Amino acid sequence: MAPLLDKVRLVMENNRRTNDEHQFTLPSPELYPFQWLWDSCFHAMILSHFDIPAAKAELRSVVSSPLPSGMLPHIIYHTRTEDIPKLWGREQRGDIITSSWGVVGTSSITQPPLLALAARKLYDLDNDLSLIEDIYPKLKDHFVYLDRERTIAGFGPLLAIINPDESGEDNSPRFDEALDLAPMHVPDIHLDARLTLIKHFAKCDFKVATCMQEYFSVIDVPFNILYAEDLTHLAFLAGVLDRDDDAEMFQTRAGAVRIAFKEHLYRDKQFQSYDTTNHTHIQVSTWAKFMPLYGGLLTKREARELIFTELLNPEKFGTPFPVPTTSVSEPAFDPETGFWRGPTWMAPNWFIYHGLKRYGFTSLAENIKEKSLALIEQSGFREQYDPETGEGQGAKNFTWGGLVLDMN
Ligand code: GLC
Repeated sequence: MAPLLDKVRLVMENNRRTNDEHQFTLPSPELYPFQWLWDSCFHAMILSHFDIPAAKAELRSVVSSPLPSGMLPHIIYHTRTEDIPKLWGREQRGDIITSSWGVVGTSSITQPPLLALAARKLYDLDNDLSLIEDIYPKLKDHFVYLDRERTIAGFGPLLAIINPDESGEDNSPRFDEALDLAPMHVPDIHLDARLTLIKHFAKCDFKVATCMQEYFSVIDVPFNILYAEDLTHLAFLAGVLDRDDDAEMFQTRAGAVRIAFKEHLYRDKQFQSYDTTNHTHIQVSTWAKFMPLYGGLLTKREARELIFTELLNPEKFGTPFPVPTTSVSEPAFDPETGFWRGPTWMAPNWFIYHGLKRYGFTSLAENIKEKSLALIEQSGFREQYDPETGEGQGAKNFTWGGLVLDMN
């Protein structure tokens, strides 16, 4: 493991930035020169293996710019607004900032909740209460916002995302129908559709349940599984701060989310995301179908069936370099240029690794880890990899490969 640790340390340190107030890590200096919400949670977990102070700084920084609603945004720019399109090298992306609600310095949407898990992992290492005391109020405000603004009448405590980017899987084919797109299309059309949603969001005055439902509103399986898990971790953090009422509230909500999963998202013997705009379950087969392993939502028998019929099936997800983000059987499957439409990403592998471990499939989990290591060995720290050849794609010097350190 030592050489791997050195390689990960190098990427993390090269991507580290500091300004007057904050220290944080860029996912990739060339392509992603800002701070991202779920990336920073991954970063904290990676850093926890060799640089605990940097991991804590990362979390303090990522909670530093909540919107007035309490929502933690998915990007903090840490730079002047006018420099953003230039830095990003994508003029169009500037729309996301200029059309957002006038908040300077962040985006106006969020990403999957993983902060309480990352904070808990750090707390477990050295019982440092000061980190938890510092960040807990921001976490609480964020979760209060999610419950207040992102629940949809008729779906209990489940949350809706209002833009595919909020899933972290920007162009996943799970969202094609909701965006009115065919399985094959040019990537720019997809980006345009997502940017249009940002404009609607601004016009909606950011009242999600009452307004965005008309345009895009998806109760996404991975987002809600991470929410349920993070509520449990948040309850734990509330407990260490002796906030017993909060702890009980978050724990109760976690239980309610799990029950709602079965009631609203379980169809044809699997959990499927739900499009509340078009009133339909989403059947496109992506790696999201393995997230119930991570969240412990399946019986052992269901887990076994899922693994043998899907994960290990070469016609679905059993490619030479697993786990493809979209099933080989889908018309949208595009292993070479697909981004989230086929290529293998390290974060899904990390979730699936832990899901398999949760159900006791240790050797299958080890196999995911070995294949992930082989990808780094063959192609370095890249954003995605071709699931068939292992060739690296997308951003270079991308941090997520470091998650292999946290496959243990
Ligand atoms: C891409 C990914 C998203 C990630 C961001 C920064 O947009 O789809 O999940 O947060 O890059 O790494």
